[in-house]
Amino acid sequence: MKSIGLDTSGKMIVKGPQKAKGTLTVSGAKNAVLPIMGASLLTDDDIDLRNVPDLADVRTMIEILESAGKVIERFDDQLIIKSSGNINSEIPYEPVRKMRASFNVYGPLTLRNGYAKVALPGGCSIGARPVDFHLEGLKKLGIESTIEHGFVTSKLNNPNSFINISLPFPSVGATEHVLTTACLLEGVKTTITNCAIEPEVTDLVNFLNKMGAKITGGGTSILKIEGVKKLSGVKYTIIPDRIEAGTYIILGKLVGEKLTIKNVSAEHLNSLFSVFDNIGSPVDYDEKKREVKVAETLLNPLNSISMETAPFPGFPTDLQPQITTFLSLVPGRSTITETVFKSRFYHIDELNRMGAKIRVEDNTAIIEGVNKLSGAPVEATDLRAAAALLIAGLVAEGETIISNVDHIFRGYENIHEKLEQVGIELIYEK
Ligand code: EPU
Repeated sequence: MKSIGLDTSGKMIVKGPQKAKGTLTVSGAKNAVLPIMGASLLTDDDIDLRNVPDLADVRTMIEILESAGKVIERFDDQLIIKSSGNINSEIPYEPVRKMRASFNVYGPLTLRNGYAKVALPGGCSIGARPVDFHLEGLKKLGIESTIEHGFVTSKLNNPNSFINISLPFPSVGATEHVLTTACLLEGVKTTITNCAIEPEVTDLVNFLNKMGAKITGGGTSILKIEGVKKLSGVKYTIIPDRIEAGTYIILGKLVGEKLTIKNVSAEHLNSLFSVFDNIGSPVDYDEKKREVKVAETLLNPLNSISMETAPFPGFPTDLQPQITTFLSLVPGRSTITETVFKSRFYHIDELNRMGAKIRVEDNTAIIEGVNKLSGAPVEATDLRAAAALLIAGLVAEGETIISNVDHIFRGYENIHEKLEQVGIELIYEK
């Protein structure tokens, strides 16, 4: 296996069908650690994070924090974020292009330096991803933004003492960005309604409160924040990644042979478990051990289903491509309506190249189950599409070559090594 780069160009060659046998352990959650790392900009004290996955996106966030004046030390899954004494609040286009979550340092940097200049994120392969909710929310917090030459530049005005922000949609990023920024507005009481309640948002709330923030309503759609003057250093352990866990459960349902998945937070995956209940293949979860035992299920009688993605506690859009691969092999007609990123369907044509029978109408994928997939050259357009194609390659007959596969390293820690440990053979070429 060659070393992993940060671009997306690599190739994965998968010879199917294969079987996975042994134990996979889920890492810390990408979408929890990224905003938490961003929130480290609110203090000059040391932040000591545990269960931090080694992912391309985490490395991008490290680059951003370093360019903003932080000094980072990494030991295995521990990340220590220290201050160099300087704060630079200008973030160039490159890291924001690589990872949209970079934009969420804009509000905190503005508060620390009175000004920030951050590249405006562009389009993205899972569909339009504007930041209008972020900018409108920040404006209510007193942060005036001007967009020029692809950058957003801020000016900090005096905010009102009581601020109400109602998000037009429970956006994960906008909730996290506005929430994090509001924590350091001394004496200001902010209420955010229609918040995202994804577990990663709640992890951020818990982290900020441990730093000394005054937030109530964590885990609900109404967050109340009383701004404080100073936040302090903290030791914090990141929650397990529910999307990584869900991906391995789906993989196990297709190619598992006595596969155990450890470090699973079932309370974050109820929607996936109930989809498998409806399909007729319940997930075997041991609550005490927090582990799932899973085996290939295609030979059992399965039901086709109609489902949709939705903000938490609904079915996550980040598992839609992977469950689509699964449903492509379930007899009958299934449908998946994508309500979060309405055009997140670029994996469908690739699955069809492997023999799936799926068509897209508006924001619904209509899947006619087939009895096998066959290997083909395919292209990954984002990290979840890459995971869906990898699972498809493992269950398909013959060779699948996934190009642009490096997307997968943005969200799955050591996926090739983890899969090799359960007997899967993959060839990775840079
Ligand atoms: N939206 C707007 N305006 C905004 C913000 C969002 O119109 O200002 C729209 C988006 O276009 C989208 C919907 O609101 O249609 C939801 O977007 P959201 O803001 O919730 O997504 P995000 O914060 O950009 C995070 C995750 C995504 C995940 C989504 C939805 C991180 C770093 N990213 O993105 O993760 O799909 O929430 O759950 O937390 C992934 O891990 O593969 C991934 C894409």
